[in-house]
Amino acid sequence: MMGKISGSAALAMRILAFAALVASAASSQGRALQAMPPMMSMAPMMSMAPAPGMMAPMTFMQPALPYPYAATEPFIDARTNTIHFTKHLATYYTNLNTAASTNSSLAMMKLDALIPALNMGTPKVIRNNAGGIFNHLIFFKTLMMPTAMSNSTNNTMLPEDIAKAIDASFGNFTAFSKNMTDTALGVFGSGWAWLTYNPKTKALAVEPTANQDNPLSSSLGYSGNTPLVGIDVWEHAYYLKHQNVRAAYIKDWFMVVNWPQVSANYKAAMGGDLNSLITYASA
Ligand SMILES: [Fe+2]
Repeated sequence: MMGKISGSAALAMRILAFAALVASAASSQGRALQAMPPMMSMAPMMSMAPAPGMMAPMTFMQPALPYPYAATEPFIDARTNTIHFTKHLATYYTNLNTAASTNSSLAMMKLDALIPALNMGTPKVIRNNAGGIFNHLIFFKTLMMPTAMSNSTNNTMLPEDIAKAIDASFGNFTAFSKNMTDTALGVFGSGWAWLTYNPKTKALAVEPTANQDNPLSSSLGYSGNTPLVGIDVWEHAYYLKHQNVRAAYIKDWFMVVNWPQVSANYKAAMGGDLNSLITYASA
């Protein structure tokens, strides 16, 4: 019981910090503040900048990729993984840390609390770069080296719990994979297709998000569901190998999905543990 009270108090502190972040950033840009409950709007303002001559701390630290860049060959190539992880994802970290260096409220936030709290008043630099980090940490964590059992249309590597959940929500794996593929193909421009868990109905769903948005961000108009695994359909995720043929990339992505990790994410989602979705084991 005490743990639950402490967790609620911690969540309340994070919400207060996030309210201060949104208020300070929107105010500095001369934009109208989104209406907030009185308690949230009274959150104390934090100091905004490091002292002159002081380096801002690296608040958000990129973990190491837990496998070689070539691990997903030949389906997702090493060069794409390298550029994707060391350039694109690294840039999201740089941009978010730059924002945090002048806003200690942001620096206090953890991504698993920030992403569900994003709303239409959140500065784009935070929405896009925090989302970019959160989404890519899930993406890379749910890839693995293909095995002789890998199959893009009837995966035999699924742990029993996620296999049963997919069957219960979609009928069978083939129906799910078609839904996921069609959703990924249907994303116009840059975005994602996700397999998600609905904490209210306990069912799984497939849903798209635009740009670097995540299904957890219900105040941005999304479901609020917990992502278990997602296909990055930004062109940077596949263009070097697959060029304009997104369908071929999606088929190859299914060959390297780390289903045991998706199963672990499913368990975490059922337990409400969002942080473990993006936590990487230290080397
Ligand atoms: Fe990406």
